Amino acid sequence: MRAPRSFATIMNAVLEYLARQEQSFVDRLCEYVRFPSVSAQPQHKADLEACAHWLVNHCQSIGLEARLCPTAGHPVVLARTPRTADRRKPHFMVYGHYDVQPPEPFELWKTPPFEPRVEGRSLFARGASDNKGQHLAHLNAVEAYLKTGTELPVDLTFVIEGEEEVGSGHLGPFLREHRRELDIDAVVISDTGMPAKSMPALTYGLRGIAALEVKLIGPSRDLHSGIFGGSLDNPAMALCQMLAKLRDKNGRVAVPGFYDDVVPLTRYERQQLARLPYNERAYRRFLGVPQLFGEKRFTAWEQRSARPTLEINGLTSGYQGEGSKTIVPSWASAKLTLRLVPDQRPQRVLNAVKRHLKALCPPTVRLEITTGHGAEPYGFSPTHPLAQAALGALREAFDAEPVLLREGGSIPIVTEFKKVLGADTLLLGLALPDDNAHSPNEKFDLDNYAAGMRMGALLWPRLAAVR
Ligand code: BES
Ligand code: ZN
Repeated sequence: MRAPRSFATIMNAVLEYLARQEQSFVDRLCEYVRFPSVSAQPQHKADLEACAHWLVNHCQSIGLEARLCPTAGHPVVLARTPRTADRRKPHFMVYGHYDVQPPEPFELWKTPPFEPRVEGRSLFARGASDNKGQHLAHLNAVEAYLKTGTELPVDLTFVIEGEEEVGSGHLGPFLREHRRELDIDAVVISDTGMPAKSMPALTYGLRGIAALEVKLIGPSRDLHSGIFGGSLDNPAMALCQMLAKLRDKNGRVAVPGFYDDVVPLTRYERQQLARLPYNERAYRRFLGVPQLFGEKRFTAWEQRSARPTLEINGLTSGYQGEGSKTIVPSWASAKLTLRLVPDQRPQRVLNAVKRHLKALCPPTVRLEITTGHGAEPYGFSPTHPLAQAALGALREAFDAEPVLLREGGSIPIVTEFKKVLGADTLLLGLALPDDNAHSPNEKFDLDNYAAGMRMGALLWPRLAAVR
């Protein structure tokens, strides 16, 4: 009889496979990011579908049972490790998204967004970091188990969706429909960040979000501003005046009731956030702004991860081509999002903002408000045994002490995982602050890609041991 292989020997086979295949994993990510899977833009619908098909094929080629699940929006890719009937193992979900943010403005990209370029230890392409590279690291880790004949101590289901960047509107219903098959113990997501390369992180809080579009409608057509200007309101001007009243000079949101449900930061949390690296000058330069801005009495880390905000994401009106055109525009519109913290709720906050906008709107224009996606803020205790086990995997994979983070971004579906599946989420992100997520020249760090795969491999025995 063969002696049972020790844990270290088993992991060595998996880790060696990951090291040996590193170049082919980079090639695979290059292939993946070539799909312009921009979920916000209807002209890319077929590209999303092609991308999802590619992913299904890839999952099958590494030994997973995979299928494409159509939804009312973009398809979901569902892939599972082959099940052994004899005993029930702990079951985890790995979530990711194959959709990406719009790449515009194109002219600011050094090379085209969907033509991957490797420079040093960076792979440049839209979606490389957010989120294709990050969940591909997990797929590669599982491939290493399957291809080396190493038994996984857990059952895994990958859920990779195509609508995260537009609010995950169809994934909630999908979860409800597939609830029986998704009888999971917890979810693992790598779609967040780490403060620096040598600083792996477990994110235990995310902000929620609420989106709306505000349109002011004035004259029935654009009018000659010399002939008519002065006798009627200008919707662009009226909109700017309204928007300007939504925050005070330090960035505090000036909507009545907006802060009603905000749970203040605890002393412990402020202490944790204060331990994160921060250099005001370097941060200002990194952002490219002449001076920082934000609520008084809160640090930059607090402002960007643990305080609620209101931002204008887009502002449109009138003539925007070359040269000038003297008109009073017929309409003006703004896309807004609010970031929310515990215990704010998207619907309540949106109602407060709508009420306030109606009160601010002058009678000289008509107001139209369209509400968009919404997601609740998320929190998970870092002292939970699963979190502690995950910290161990991060520590070993990165050979560095992990930090605990609350982050400002949102992953809309995580609160639904809890509500629909009863599952907590471990956020183990691999993105760096200079990865340019949502910006031109997005890149993914190839050392983080490799460390992410190791983390993905080391995670499962550790999580399986938590009972
Ligand atoms: N990967 C991000 C979320 C993220 C980034 C969380 C960094 C924490 C740190 C995700 O792809 C994202 O961008 N989500 C959107 C969701 C929105 C469109 C509903 C966001 O936060 O803007
Ligand atoms: Zn994103």
